[in-house]
Amino acid sequence: MLPKLLHFYFFLTLAAGFVIGVIVASYGLSQGFAIHDLGIHEWQFRNSTSGLASTERNESLVLESATSDLASTPTNESLVLEPPTSDLASTAWNETLGFGEVLYVSMPERTDRQDAMNLAASMSGLKLRLINGVEGESISFKAIPDNNAKKWTLRPSELGCWRAHADAWRYVIDSNIETALIIEDDIDWDKNIHQIFQDLSFQMQNSTLRLVSPTDHERVSAPYGLDWDVLILGQCYDVAHPRHHDLVQVYDDPNVPSRKDTEAVFLRQMQSLGVNGKDVGKKRLLSPAYGPICTMGYAITRRGAQRLLLNLSYLSLRGPVDMDMMWTLQEGKIRGYTVTPPLFSAWRVGGQKDSDNKPDPKLPISGRGNVGGWSRNIKSSARVAMVKELAMDNWMEYTNQGTGSETKAEKGKNGEGKANGRKRS
Ligand SMILES: *[C@@H]1O[C@H](CO)[C@@H](O)[C@H](O)[C@H]1NC(C)=O
Ligand SMILES: *[C@@H]1O[C@H](CO)[C@@H](O)[C@H](O)[C@H]1NC(C)=O
Ligand SMILES: *[C@@H]1O[C@H](CO)[C@@H](O)[C@H](O)[C@H]1NC(C)=O
Ligand SMILES: *[C@@H]1O[C@H](CO)[C@@H](O)[C@H](O)[C@H]1NC(C)=O
Ligand SMILES: *[C@@H]1O[C@H](CO)[C@@H](O)[C@H](O)[C@H]1NC(C)=O
Ligand SMILES: *[C@@H]1O[C@H](CO)[C@@H](O)[C@H](O)[C@H]1NC(C)=O
Repeated sequence: MLPKLLHFYFFLTLAAGFVIGVIVASYGLSQGFAIHDLGIHEWQFRNSTSGLASTERNESLVLESATSDLASTPTNESLVLEPPTSDLASTAWNETLGFGEVLYVSMPERTDRQDAMNLAASMSGLKLRLINGVEGESISFKAIPDNNAKKWTLRPSELGCWRAHADAWRYVIDSNIETALIIEDDIDWDKNIHQIFQDLSFQMQNSTLRLVSPTDHERVSAPYGLDWDVLILGQCYDVAHPRHHDLVQVYDDPNVPSRKDTEAVFLRQMQSLGVNGKDVGKKRLLSPAYGPICTMGYAITRRGAQRLLLNLSYLSLRGPVDMDMMWTLQEGKIRGYTVTPPLFSAWRVGGQKDSDNKPDPKLPISGRGNVGGWSRNIKSSARVAMVKELAMDNWMEYTNQGTGSETKAEKGKNGEGKANGRKRS
């Protein structure tokens, strides 16, 4: 526990000052969340409330098959429901959400998480490219960046995490793409992810936060603009710039989680930026990135990838990758925007599987498992939705066919038949 608290204490005092430090440290303690610094960067929250119990979530899982060919086509496994319109924002409906590519970082041995990502992505109409996670011990001491600041002694696990992300940045630089979304392998998102990104794109194209008008190139082919290095989309902690609470773009998003489903840290950040009361659960916020922690999801531009590789590899690495990125944002050496509440969130199953860390032997291998897993800050979990979407009852379908008609009364009778069938068997 001590190193974790120090972890917090360090970044807070160094970066955001003592006052914020006290608030966050007490938040961390009250929520029981801890930032792990082993393996892929992770966080946990106290296993007291399960998002899965939410009836709101259950309701929203009901697919509106009347308005969509997709939902009623048994062979089409995608959850994508809305037909795209023709403007630039509608490229958010493509398989890479309007970014050049979507990269996900996963330790090679976590084939369980890779299966999950493959499945969830396919059900959400996403195409992902795997970037292998790295064991810190495998990195030569000569390949470890200089640590000029001497703020932090990096552990192997923190180095491994940094290396995986640096490999993703390098991929972006090497590839002929202008932007990439980088996500980790233990996350969840909303089943309406394309709509959410279309709404974000629409906001970002002519954002009031832009310092210069979009170029012709941006207007034609950059759904999120290119006036940023990083776009923070999957943070576990965040805070707005203390002196720039005016810098915010607030917009309606029907897919924002309710107050109950939104973690306190984001409610506080929203409040500091003027969104509270009835607006909570209705509005999404875009603001300059200042205090994000965790790397569960963020986008980068090519220039962003170059800046990160310059400052978080070539010149120096001062701490865990997410913290050095935050320090660099706070120093104003890279430009970023943050989306609140975030669009990517940790999927938790309880137990040792939640971490690529050296396991805590006191924990069970698996807690509730994916069957009972949960995520926060998401209105309609894609992981919950996909289980429902793929569910079927083969023998019931034979029975249905046997009894012929499609009327509602008949369906009701078939439902009873199912129950009876179970009793008999
Ligand atoms: C979920 O929704 C279905 C269909 O609307 C309903 O039958 C079921 O009772 C709901 N379950 C819960 C836990 O609310
Ligand atoms: C799913 O439906 C969409 C839109 O109708 C179509 O473009 C796509 O090819 C379909 N996919 C499969 C696997 O049938
Ligand atoms: C999605 O759209 C973006 C922006 O136009 C584009 O760069 C990317 O290649 C597209 N992805 C796919 C899979 O077509
Ligand atoms: C952005 O502004 C341009 C120029 O005023 C306009 O043509 C375009 O429709 C706007 N795009 C969005 C998404 O608001
Ligand atoms: C990189 O970091 C150094 C300090 O280590 C700073 O002076 C410089 O401005 C930074 N450059 C970029 C591009 O972030
Ligand atoms: C989490 O909460 C559930 C239900 O409240 C409980 O059954 C379970 O044992 C808890 N712990 C873990 C590690 O999942």
